[in-house]
Amino acid sequence: MIAFEGVVKRFGATEALRGATFTVPKGVVAGLLGPNGAGKTTTIKIAAGLLRRDGGRVSVLGLDPWEQGEELRERVGVLHERPAYPPDVPVKVLLRHVARIRGLGWEDALQAAKLAGVERYLERPVSALSRGYLQRLGLAIALLGEPELLLLDEPTANLDPSARREVLAAIKTLGEEMGATIVISSHIIPEMEQVCNYAVIISGGVVLAQGSLTDLATAFGAEVEFVARSREPRRLASLLVSEEGVRGVEVEGDRVVARAASSARQRLEALLEKARLEGLALGWELRSRSLGEVYERAVQASR
Ligand SMILES: Nc1ncnc2c1ncn2[C@@H]1O[C@H](COP(=O)(O)OP(=O)(O)OP(=O)(O)O)[C@@H](O)[C@H]1O
Ligand SMILES: [Mg+2]
Repeated sequence: MIAFEGVVKRFGATEALRGATFTVPKGVVAGLLGPNGAGKTTTIKIAAGLLRRDGGRVSVLGLDPWEQGEELRERVGVLHERPAYPPDVPVKVLLRHVARIRGLGWEDALQAAKLAGVERYLERPVSALSRGYLQRLGLAIALLGEPELLLLDEPTANLDPSARREVLAAIKTLGEEMGATIVISSHIIPEMEQVCNYAVIISGGVVLAQGSLTDLATAFGAEVEFVARSREPRRLASLLVSEEGVRGVEVEGDRVVARAASSARQRLEALLEKARLEGLALGWELRSRSLGEVYERAVQASR
């Protein structure tokens, strides 16, 4: 879906990207994570075909975003870091205008407005929107024409906690409903952990780590979590609790949640698979809540 290989970008004497290499597979919700000045916005702009790289290779949806920008822009939605809209124009007029530029009709604009949750504010001028709703307007514009790929640069910046939650929930729903691949840049790790299932960690213009959250946890020796459903959750829990590397087991209704050292991952996967085949577990999945730990370790190791 996205592949960067040794990408270099300079702004005068500043090297914003110093050989950035990463991939984002189709269908994931990926966090592009890194401190201020890491190169997140530069990465997003290069992927969107808005900025020309100085070196390396870039492929987005199989296209070169700089050489084939026009074709790409029909298939990619972008939410910019600091979007600016004309203040006095009603939301409806702005959306219709942007849709028309993209060769789309009012029906498309209305659908994007609904998905982003701004349909109640269509008659209002842009200047009357709260920051949260301005951000949703930006999302609606990014969603026009149901893009295959969404690039969102700090979608929760400058929002209060409840607006952040709303915008994140909207993005999560989008990922699930549209099945689009989504890249979200941010430096707020706990927030990203709730919406992303994949992460690319960047600092100083180089990619420090990337992968699914569970693979990252395993690679950095952080904890993983098994969530299993069972008709006999207590029996399954007692089986798990005696396993080496298991650090805590909780039963919640028919679900068993076991926290474990990543070194025990393979053994526990095999054990749960056996339990599933024997009918003790109805199904299980692996997740990770260690993104903060992974991020700290990756950034520290690079210093
Ligand atoms: N147009 C520009 N001219 C000069 N330097 C730039 C320009 N754009 C970015 N830079 C520099 O490139 C580096 C990477 O910037 P970038 O905006 O990509 O970082 P970022 O990860 O998005 O940071 P933030 O979290 O602050 O948004 C920084 O050192 C920045 O100062
Ligand atoms: Mg930025």
